[in-house]
Amino acid sequence: MNQVQPQAIHRKDYCAPDYRFEGIALEFDLLPEATRVQSKLSMAAVNPGKPLVLDGEDLKLLSVKMDGRLLGTSEYLLAERTLTIPNPPARFTLEIETEVNPKGNTQLSGLYQSSGNFCTQCEAEGFRRITYFLDRPDVMTVYRVTIRADRKTCPVLLSNGNLVEEGALPDGRHYAVWHDPYPKPCYLFALVAGNLACNEDIFVTQSGRQVKLRIFTEHGKEGRSAYAMDALKRSMRWDETRFGLEYDLDLFNIVAVSDFNMGAMENKSLNVFNDRYILADPETATDGDFAAIEAVVAHEYFHNWTGNRITCRDWFQLSLKEGLTVFRDQEFSSDMRSRPVKRIQDVRNLRARQFPEDAGPLAHPIRPDSYIAIDNFYTATVYEKGSEVIRMMHTLLGEDGFQKGMKLYVDRHDGEAATCDQFVAAMADANGADLEQFRLWYSQAGTPELQVEGHYEAQNGEYVLTVAQHCPPTPGQPEKKPMHIPLHVGLLDAQGQDIPLRLDKESAVPQRNGRLLSLTAAKQTFRFRGIPEPRALSLNRGFSAPVNIKVKQSGVERAFLMAHDSDAFARWEAGQQYATDLLLQRIANPSTPFDPAFAAAVGQILRDDALEAAFAAEAVTLPSEDYIADHMAVIDVEAIHTARRALRRQIAETHRDLLLATYDQNRISGPYSPDAGPAGRRALKNAALAYLAELAAEERGILDRIAGQYRDADNMTDRMAALRMLVDLNVPERQAALDDFHDRFRGDALVLDKWLALQAISALPDALERVKALLHHSAFSMHKPNKVRALIGSFTANALRYHAADGSGYAFHADRIIELDPINPQVAARLLAPLGRWRRVDPGRQAKMKAELERILAVPKLSRETYEIASKSLAG
Ligand code: TRP
Ligand code: ZN
Repeated sequence: MNQVQPQAIHRKDYCAPDYRFEGIALEFDLLPEATRVQSKLSMAAVNPGKPLVLDGEDLKLLSVKMDGRLLGTSEYLLAERTLTIPNPPARFTLEIETEVNPKGNTQLSGLYQSSGNFCTQCEAEGFRRITYFLDRPDVMTVYRVTIRADRKTCPVLLSNGNLVEEGALPDGRHYAVWHDPYPKPCYLFALVAGNLACNEDIFVTQSGRQVKLRIFTEHGKEGRSAYAMDALKRSMRWDETRFGLEYDLDLFNIVAVSDFNMGAMENKSLNVFNDRYILADPETATDGDFAAIEAVVAHEYFHNWTGNRITCRDWFQLSLKEGLTVFRDQEFSSDMRSRPVKRIQDVRNLRARQFPEDAGPLAHPIRPDSYIAIDNFYTATVYEKGSEVIRMMHTLLGEDGFQKGMKLYVDRHDGEAATCDQFVAAMADANGADLEQFRLWYSQAGTPELQVEGHYEAQNGEYVLTVAQHCPPTPGQPEKKPMHIPLHVGLLDAQGQDIPLRLDKESAVPQRNGRLLSLTAAKQTFRFRGIPEPRALSLNRGFSAPVNIKVKQSGVERAFLMAHDSDAFARWEAGQQYATDLLLQRIANPSTPFDPAFAAAVGQILRDDALEAAFAAEAVTLPSEDYIADHMAVIDVEAIHTARRALRRQIAETHRDLLLATYDQNRISGPYSPDAGPAGRRALKNAALAYLAELAAEERGILDRIAGQYRDADNMTDRMAALRMLVDLNVPERQAALDDFHDRFRGDALVLDKWLALQAISALPDALERVKALLHHSAFSMHKPNKVRALIGSFTANALRYHAADGSGYAFHADRIIELDPINPQVAARLLAPLGRWRRVDPGRQAKMKAELERILAVPKLSRETYEIASKSLAG
């Protein structure tokens, strides 16, 4: 390689900063191609005599003044990514003037433009793309921000905190001054300036303060922010009632932009959102979109305490704020909607995105030990597994104990930059609990595997449960220590009732719904006494730990759990494991018939009126193709697809009339509501129709029903569900519906993203050809992350077509990465991960995938982000 390889940064090298800031005054003169930024810093040395090394990237340095005196170029050192003042005094002021180009900023990090509006994204290291600064989260200071801009194109001028002054300037310009009283790290700085519409509301906090709430959108879209506003108010109330945390300023602003690298950003009192997580109405947003908006609005709001008031000491601690805040948003959604259904969806998501990461070349602990580009570590592991780790502490300590720990954490660290260790210490200290072994969850990567064996000893009425734990090796961690794993188990009697589980030496029996075991050793045996003959063993209820379980269970036992387990999650899980077993057997031997007992169990769920519709929809949905793939030594995408379709078809044939009845019973008349109840009925109705779609090729009536639902839908959920079915069917109705959809929503970028994504995930053989053609469609742009994810990201998730044996999918993927890297390295690097799964496929495909990774690595001037993912994907 002809380039210098980017260097890794290590957690163990952490050093406290040598300088403190006693305040920063920023002044922006906004112009699209040449914005001037003046930064006045009041500095104090923590360790006098050390050089001051400021971070900076893609900046034009105009001038540097120290204590009012202009510095000559020999008095500082300007390098590619730093500005060094070799020998500053103990206290001084520094004035730095830089120029940046927001319009040319295609990376969408730092100050950039979206639809002509100025906005910033500073997490993780974007602030250094605005001005030279100590760009690290443990440097916290108070910001005063002056924004000057053209009054006509930028009537709205926003930054963090309170508006202290505004007024007119010559030449049609105006200004605003903002002051944020809370010291913050620079990654939470934000500025927005533009021509925006606004939806305004008021929230009265529990202590009676009025908070002005505003959601800014592009003009004409303000009517679509009502649900987000409602979600915001519910989040604010929930954080008061469940966590005792109240909002701390008099205003809270959200801005929705259409060009954004991630989901949303929690800048202090000025959250900036990808507009897909704000804008919704029944015609353009699905039930899933509404639920995601609720979750993301809550997530960003909750960061005000878990992230902003208490931030991270360094980026290795990212899960301190992200894992905890994901846990909080999951709990919020559970309290707003159905708790078991939310748990099922979160586990599905964890298995789809985090388990493969933990089993692949990019595996890392929730608190990583090193990174090359921190932006690559905003991962499912840090976020979703991080949340599972918090949830396990919640399970071990209980809600009261957990809240005691939270209170101590906030009392101890409010206003500080803290560590994961400090969070665990607060939980342990507040409860007098021993969490020493539990801390291994922060340092060991990989998904632990539990080998479980249970048997009944009739002669002494005892049930003996043996659990062995093992965590597979991950990059840099060949061997692991046993972890502290909370495992919630149950035993069902012949009536499906929970048998009280009394351990060895105990007399009293505390729990009625099974019990929580603490696994701490490599292998442990539990003896339950006084047990009548059990029918079924229920494991990992509520998904009490993020582990994989190996246990021999018959289809009969699994069907029994599906029908009777008192734990709703475990009922769902029994069905998933049952289906997985059947599918794996079928893949191993294509002539194996499916045990009809499974279809019968699915029928029981469809017939059970006592079940929540949303739960039934989850319970009849088969595990995904990717989930099946994760259970195979060598992935065979064709065989998985064929087997899964065959099982779906058997269920459709067995239950044709029942599915039709389910469809009809769950139609809703009257106005659309995004609430969990009606959304669940739509989910069940559409799950039934999707099964029937397996019969559409020979049953005209079913095809008519699907096409009819597409045409007559009064909401996007139903319209999208029908279109999703049509894109997998080789019928004329398919193209007609796709064309209609495009014409109906031609001006709506977010809806056209759905249109792009649907075509990219089609199971039909021409998926790649279509995706290639769509690259030239006006609905697509390589400069817009939402478009890139919708078309290219979705295609790489289409395992059947992405893994085409001729390697065409891989080559297409690599071409797009190479094209995108110089435009937006953060998005390019994230998009790259699927190529890292090469170890999981056959040797022919392996060679093709590796060749594409090598081709990417050979590109001159490859970004650090993409370099890190590509090189680790090859090595790991
Ligand atoms: N902190 C944000 C969140 O989780 C994530 C985020 C938004 C982000 N934009 C980013 C992370 C850009 C890295 C880069 O809510
Ligand atoms: Zn977050």
